[in-house]
Formats: sequence, C-alpha cells, structure tokens
Amino acid sequence: MDSILVTGNGPLNGQIPIAGAKNACLTLMPATLLSDEPLTLTNAPRLSDIKTMTLLLQSLGAEVSSLQDGQVLAMSSHDLTSHTADYDIVRKMRASNLVLGPMLARLGQAVVSLPGGCAIGARPMDLHIEALEALGAEIELRDGYLHAKAPGGLKGAVHEMRFASVGATENIVMAATLAKGTTVLKNAAREPEIVDLVECLRKMGAQIAGEGTSTIEIQGVDRLHGATHQVVTDRIELGTYMLAPAICGGEVELLGGRLDLVGAFVEKLDAAAIDVTETDKGLKVKRRNGRVSAVDVTTEPFPGFPTDLQAQMMALLCTAEGTSVLEEKIFENRFMHAPELTRMGAQIDVHGGTATVTGVERLKGAPVMATDLRASVSLILAGLAAEGETVVSRVYHLDRGYEQVVRKFEGVGAKIERIKE
Ligand code: UD1
Repeated sequence: MDSILVTGNGPLNGQIPIAGAKNACLTLMPATLLSDEPLTLTNAPRLSDIKTMTLLLQSLGAEVSSLQDGQVLAMSSHDLTSHTADYDIVRKMRASNLVLGPMLARLGQAVVSLPGGCAIGARPMDLHIEALEALGAEIELRDGYLHAKAPGGLKGAVHEMRFASVGATENIVMAATLAKGTTVLKNAAREPEIVDLVECLRKMGAQIAGEGTSTIEIQGVDRLHGATHQVVTDRIELGTYMLAPAICGGEVELLGGRLDLVGAFVEKLDAAAIDVTETDKGLKVKRRNGRVSAVDVTTEPFPGFPTDLQAQMMALLCTAEGTSVLEEKIFENRFMHAPELTRMGAQIDVHGGTATVTGVERLKGAPVMATDLRASVSLILAGLAAEGETVVSRVYHLDRGYEQVVRKFEGVGAKIERIKE
C-alpha cells in the first residue's frame, strides 16, 4: 500500500486548479440509466470512485467511455442487461446506491446490495426506501439486497423526509422524473451537487422546480433524452486546498473556486482571521495575521458547514490560538483523525460527537494512518505545517476523492511525495 511523505516546508504560494465534484459526478453518472440516449459529462474528476461507478454502470449493461484523459465521460444506457447492483461493487462505495432510483424508474425493478456500515458511521438506507415506497415502489430486504419493484410504474406523491439526506434526495428526484404525475419532496437536501443533478436532468427533458430549496417539485415525463453536462466545481476539494495557505502561510489562488459553494466555510475562515477574496479566476486565500484564531464549528446539511470539511478544519485548528469546539452532527463516528493528529502533538479531547481542540504552537511530524477519505487529507495538511517528516499510510482512501494531490500541493511549493510499495 502506497504512503505519502510530507515535510513541513514553510509558506505555500501559487495557484491550484480545482476539479469537477466527485459527489456531483457520482450522482450524474447514474442519471444515464434514465434514458436510452447518450449522456456526456465534461469536467469529470479522475478518481477511483468514478472508476467504481463506471464498473457498476457497465455491470448493468451501460456503455461508459472515458475520454480526454478521463475528463469526459461518454455514457449510453441504450441496452441495459441487468438490474442488479452487486455487493462486490456496492461495498466499495456507498454512492453505488444511487442506481436504485433510476433503475426502478426506467426498468420497473432494481436489486441493490445494502452498502453496510462504513468507517464514519452506520449509514442506513431507510430514508431512500421510505421515499421510494411513497412513490409506489414495493421494497423487500432479502439476502443483504434490496429487492425493489414498481410493476405498474412509479406514481408521483407528496413526501416529507425525516432528515434531509443527500443521497435519498438524489435517488427520489431521479426516480420521480419518470413517475406518473407530480412528486413534491419536502425537507429535501439543498446541496450544490443536487442543483447540478437537476440542471442536468432538465437538459435531458425533466420537469423540475425548487432545487436548492427544501421543497423540490418534479412533474413526471414519459421519457428523457440525451444531453451534455459540465460537472460543477468540487466544493470539498476547494475548501481543502483553501486550508493549505491558512495552515502553512503564504497566498494561494484556487482556480475555479466560487464563494457560493463554500459560504459557511468562508465565514469560519474569516472568524479564524483568514482572508478570502474573489478574483477573475477563482478565490485567493491568505492569513490575516501570524497565527489563526480558534473558532467553533458545527457540521450541518448545506448551506451549513460541511461534514466533509470537518477533518481538514480540525487540522487547521490544532495550531490556532485558543480552544475550538467542533461538533459533528451528520455522522456519528467521524473523529478518527483526532487520535492521528494527537500523534503529531495536537491537543484534542473527543466526547461523543464533540471534539475540543486546544491549539498548540506547532505540530510535529509522525507516522500516521489515514482512516477515511477526508481524514487522510487532513493529515497531509497537518503534516505540511508540522516540524519534520510525516508519513501518511493507507493513501488509497485519498485516491477515491483527490486527483493529482501530490502535483497540486507541489505546485504551490509543498514538499510532498508518494512512496510506492
Ligand atoms: C453524501 C456525500 C458525502 C457527505 C454526505 C453528507 C456523496 C456521494 N456523498 O453522502 O460525502 O458526507 O452526503 O453531506 O454525495 N441516513 C440515514 N438513512 C438514510 C440515509 C442517510 O439515517 O436512508 C443518515 C446517514 O447515516 C448520515 C446522514 O443521514 O448520518 C447523512 O447522510 P446522507 O445525507 O444520506 O449522505 P450520503 O448521501 O450518504
């Protein structure tokens, strides 16, 4: 298993290009299943999760070609040959469950393995199931698989979700595009990736209103057609790299960065004495003074502070002046980076969903282990600001969500290398 060696090397300066959003691409790809005409995505990120989704779609009979060095995905679901999403693929990536809604809508049946727990929490599928049942689906759990069918087709309905789940919103919106009549989804998630999905579905002929608000209305249509769509900027990759100059000093411009994607995050950076300014090409970030200030953070559904930036924010606050309290409200077990950061000299107390971080002057390099995708990049950020060398092992997590991570950090002057095994 490869690892990454990071050596603390002072301020970072320059530009970092931000890729298309992993999480948007992972929901846009299954949208191909809704139509027998081609769907082409541009600005796709080059990541192992995208390869996993490619394999899953291919296993269902879809054609997926990766063009222009992986940045264009040309897909066609003209002839689907299977309606089963196998455990071997689903267990690798929870987002595989996003084929459930589209398959049910197009084929009237779908068999999808339950994803099982993952490192950051249990992550059940009950909200997806309840919403699809409201549209008339019959769903049974047998042998670890969800067996879903809608023999007479799905029918529009009014449904309020108990929690604004991102994946459930995406599944229901996709399913409802081909249902008979109107679906009103209340307490829908408002994430930019959902807005991006709706924009793509609209290009395919779907009738949808209210995306980006908590009520989404979908008027079912008989069929969807082909389209070409550009994947929205990755706000989590953006926020991650915005933290590089915040942690190490210097000034970095994030190419393609957009303030509207990271509003709540930028508010916290401002409170921590980090300046973010808009430029012609994106966003520029630098520290206001010498040391950053402590700030309290609570993760929430969009437009709140994203759970996917909590680990990286913790890395910053480890060297802030004062004590910060981080509350994780989305996942029950998402502080596994805390003991690793502690190995580097951080002072962190975790109690349930709350971590109290008392800033220290400087972290010290250490061997650490990545436990999940966002945790792994938080350890790299911490290593960049630490004294000496940090070796982050198990970097396969990183490959799921960050393309060319070594090259991007090197481009702004970081000392970082991948050690192959
Ligand atoms: C998506 C993102 C992930 C991000 C998360 C929250 C993708 C591919 N992944 O994941 O990076 O961290 O949103 O912003 O877009 N839940 C249930 N029952 C359900 C569904 C969810 O209890 O049926 C719970 C989960 O266990 C979790 C919370 O709801 O505690 C949030 O999950 P959800 O919004 O569904 O996240 P994902 O779509 O899985």
